[in-house]
Amino acid sequence: MSSQPRPTPSAPQAPRVTAQTLLEKKRLGEPITALTAYDYPTARLVDEAGIDIILVGDSLGMAVLGYDTTLPVTMDEMLHHAKAVARATRHALLVADMPFGSYHVSPEQAVTNALRFIQEAGMSAVKIEGNNADLVARLTRAEIPVVCHLGLTPQSVHRMGGYKVQGKTASAVEQLCHDAAALEGAGAIAIVLEGIPRQAAELITANSGIPTIGIGAGPLCDGQILVFHDLFNLSFTPPAKFVRPQADAAALFREGLARYREEVSARTFPSDAESYHLSSSALQELAHS
Ligand code: KIV
Repeated sequence: MSSQPRPTPSAPQAPRVTAQTLLEKKRLGEPITALTAYDYPTARLVDEAGIDIILVGDSLGMAVLGYDTTLPVTMDEMLHHAKAVARATRHALLVADMPFGSYHVSPEQAVTNALRFIQEAGMSAVKIEGNNADLVARLTRAEIPVVCHLGLTPQSVHRMGGYKVQGKTASAVEQLCHDAAALEGAGAIAIVLEGIPRQAAELITANSGIPTIGIGAGPLCDGQILVFHDLFNLSFTPPAKFVRPQADAAALFREGLARYREEVSARTFPSDAESYHLSSSALQELAHS
């Protein structure tokens, strides 16, 4: 690491995004931008780019911890990453995913765990998957803003029999509309719509008073979210249909790593200019000792 102190994140150009900011954007028809981030450098870059929402998603299990699904991710892992993201950001609304099992046993367990994201990790809201309006109401009464997540909910991978597009029949779309209305009624501040046909997302968005944030749900949601590592080809899997990669960071890293290996092997790194030097007096003393 550099011995220079790291300048703290600079003062934001715009005030911190809140649930009210998102509502206002929906009212004005201004698209909401959202991305995941799991650590200090990526969160800082995302925040400085002016993205509205940073989600510390439990996708970190697959994106950075090497799990096959999001199911093994623990509260401790989520909190560890959420704290790093909070230290890096000044602008975005910070949302943390409640991991599998952290809100399923009892409402009391759910409130206790959700409070940890707000109090210990500096998040502004938590996200839960599925239609659980009672829990959304309970968390909202405890002053914990809740983002919901419908459609392809990765924590339901076993029930769904894989990561499959949801809401493909008229009755499934009606169920999604019903669920979205129930979650809005219970106090949700936004709903992530994942892996559903664009027409279903359009219908839910048109009938919803709160913002919808799509991922694999077509262009007519109030906002869009992607996983940071998918955006920059750092996922080690071919991109899904709904991902438009913006740069090939993996290629950049591979080139840099190959060069570093070559330069160390050839002793061309470090150079004299990249080395510290004794003063001439210390050198003389050393020569006479
Ligand atoms: O965990 C996550 O990254 C998510 C997004 C895919 C919305 O839930």
